[in-house]
Amino acid sequence: MTKSLLLAIESSCDDTSVAIIDTNYQVYANVISSQLAHNEFGGVVPELASRLHLQNISYCMDMALQEAKVSLQDIAAIAVSVNPGLIGSLLVGVSFAKGLAWSLDIPLIAVNHMLGHVFSNKIKNPDLQAPWLALVISGGHTELVEFETESKFRIVGHTIDDAAGEAFDKIAKILGLGYPGGPMIDKLAKLGNPNFYKFPQALDKKDNYYFSFSGLKTSVMQYLAKQSDEYITDNLNDIVASVQHAIVNILVKKTIAYATKHEFDKIIVAGGVSANSYLRQQMLKANKKLNADIYFPPLSLCMDNAAMIGAAAVRKYHAQEFANLDLNAFSTKGIKEV
Ligand code: KG4
Ligand code: ZN
Repeated sequence: MTKSLLLAIESSCDDTSVAIIDTNYQVYANVISSQLAHNEFGGVVPELASRLHLQNISYCMDMALQEAKVSLQDIAAIAVSVNPGLIGSLLVGVSFAKGLAWSLDIPLIAVNHMLGHVFSNKIKNPDLQAPWLALVISGGHTELVEFETESKFRIVGHTIDDAAGEAFDKIAKILGLGYPGGPMIDKLAKLGNPNFYKFPQALDKKDNYYFSFSGLKTSVMQYLAKQSDEYITDNLNDIVASVQHAIVNILVKKTIAYATKHEFDKIIVAGGVSANSYLRQQMLKANKKLNADIYFPPLSLCMDNAAMIGAAAVRKYHAQEFANLDLNAFSTKGIKEV
């Protein structure tokens, strides 16, 4: 198949990213500028994020073109994430994308950020075909989604309060482990015992595919309040391993149960939390009986990046599902076609 080059833009949260990817899912550049300025605040400051996107975006694009050894004249379409995310941040990417598409007189493709996470798996596995079941787990989302085709899908379960990544982040913050908390908990938990303390796993009922993580956060706070500082320091690895087990076990259990009940033979895991080493290990272990093919994005594509936005735009490019220049960003949650 002849291939065309897409320039993809991601600016939904605190990473400014520009990628060059072709319509066979080959990535030529995926420049990511992470905004470290938020770290001292223990979370993303929206106004600061928008301003930094504005400062960084042209530079990221120049770097991506340089790395891919192409010029803007070689680009066939511009893809951009339009939702969900921080509205100010999204608007920077969308406005930049519209300006580019207009000035180059090429099509504009609107991409849902969560679909981007799912399609990050096509980069390593371009031949991967639906149907598949997707577990989408990020800082703001936890969704179990069944895909009949690449464009026809429905959410069969989601969190009713905090997202899985949010649980990692908030619990890490309580423990003074910095932001984002997921990678740090993952690292410390490798040296700990996941069965050291039994934290609650909410909605643990058969045929319930919804998730809840805010009770876990409360339970961790109550548990820590009863321990001395010395005890917490001495047992930190075991405590975080137990927290991680509570989050991961329920995600794995429900995903495998749903896939087994509905006979899925392909499972995609996507979003920042898909980088978690314990989750990857537990998912493969729980899959022994079902024996589905399980796909995780490469670690470099788990967190927010523009290559995944380009990957989700490939189907739309082939189907000529282009956006108009009055395209707007919107912040509503969830995975959806836009
Ligand atoms: O997908 P993502 O980059 O941004 C959103 O769209 O939200 O996900 C970020 C989330 C954060 O909550 C972060 O703590 C979590 O992914 N995360 C991890 C790991 N790496 C990132 N959580 C657990 N283990 C990890 N190794
Ligand atoms: Zn994301």
